[in-house]
Amino acid sequence: MIVGIPKEVKADENRVAITPAGVIALRDHGQDVLVQAGAGLSSGIDDSKYRASGAQVVKSAAELWARSELVLKVKEPRPSEYRFLRPGLLLFTYLHLAAEKTLARELVRRRVTALGYETIQLDDHSLPLLAPMSEVAGRMAVLAGAWCLHASMGGCGMLLSGATGVKPPRMLVLGAGIAGANACQAAASMGADVTIVDRDVTRLRYVHDILGSRVATLMSNRASIEEELRQAHLVIGAVLIPGARAPRLISESMLTSMQHGAALVDLSIDQGGIAESSRPTTHKRPTYVRHGVVHYCVANMPAAMPHTATYALTNATLPYVLAIAEHGVLEAGQRDPAIRRGLNTYEGHVVHPAVAEALRTEAHSPWD
Ligand SMILES: NC(=O)c1ccc[n+]([C@@H]2O[C@H](COP(=O)([O-])OP(=O)(O)OC[C@H]3O[C@@H](n4cnc5c(N)ncnc54)[C@H](O)[C@@H]3O)[C@@H](O)[C@H]2O)c1
Repeated sequence: MIVGIPKEVKADENRVAITPAGVIALRDHGQDVLVQAGAGLSSGIDDSKYRASGAQVVKSAAELWARSELVLKVKEPRPSEYRFLRPGLLLFTYLHLAAEKTLARELVRRRVTALGYETIQLDDHSLPLLAPMSEVAGRMAVLAGAWCLHASMGGCGMLLSGATGVKPPRMLVLGAGIAGANACQAAASMGADVTIVDRDVTRLRYVHDILGSRVATLMSNRASIEEELRQAHLVIGAVLIPGARAPRLISESMLTSMQHGAALVDLSIDQGGIAESSRPTTHKRPTYVRHGVVHYCVANMPAAMPHTATYALTNATLPYVLAIAEHGVLEAGQRDPAIRRGLNTYEGHVVHPAVAEALRTEAHSPWD
């Protein structure tokens, strides 16, 4: 199969869908790889590295899309790329089609077979191609939070690790999933005083098992969150209810009870945010202050670390890419239910039930 990797066109998107190691793996499995010139530059991978690993570097997006049988991307195709979509093309990328209805209709109309990274799902319901970005964002949240505590940012001027003879600030992590547990791990290793809250006791037990007494675990309820908020200097919001808006765990009045100069890093902003006061910000203007609390609410945090994010993402996608390139979608899906669940559109039909619901149409599975 000819696998093609275009340069991303979405604003501020600096990741690329394959690394030189991925090219080598595909070549070892007998596949041909095309990479658009400059596709990896923002992730620190220049064209010569792709060439050295066996890819052919092509100049234009038009040539790349036209020659590729399977196109790998990071973000969903943008309107400027719709003209490249054609019947029979295989596309594997983040799609979020329930929220991208125009694109969903284009994929159906143009009979593209599209798999969404975010819908590849294991039997235990986990989402292995979303996890790497939550891991990166969770770790970044601690760095962002430490920066928000700087006096120059409006923060209380406390160093996350404290200093000899000086207590560290108190940190509260809401949500002990992938992002929350990674934030905890990063903060604990810096010497911060961390409490983590979740409504799922198995998640709390997991954090306790890996970090022991370095982190306090607490069951999520209104009273415990209210009490912790009053004492916290840094709060990280990392809760998720799959398919739903993030729960509003911090009301405006709870915010006013927080310490002046405290910081809130709201990772869940991509699902609406955990605080009434949260609104999306950008990497260019990431923070604002409300009721004395510094808010950091960037919805695409990993975009600021394209090198790490590219490698973390492609480590996770590669096994699926290899299976799809080797067997084609139908057989790969038959062998692996996670791939089956990942299929969004196929030959002019919507396959994924959530996408079908968003488009108010019927879902058709090619495996039925
Ligand atoms: N801003 C960004 O750049 C960025 C990047 C990656 C992920 N995210 C977001 O971070 C959030 C967390 O992602 P994740 O992969 O860690 O999710 P996850 O599913 O692994 O974890 C979410 C956790 O929230 C807990 N939870 C749900 N309701 C709760 C409540 N009321 N109180 C306490 N805990 C509750 C769940 O039990 C679960 O453990 C998501 O919204 C995700 O989209 C944001």
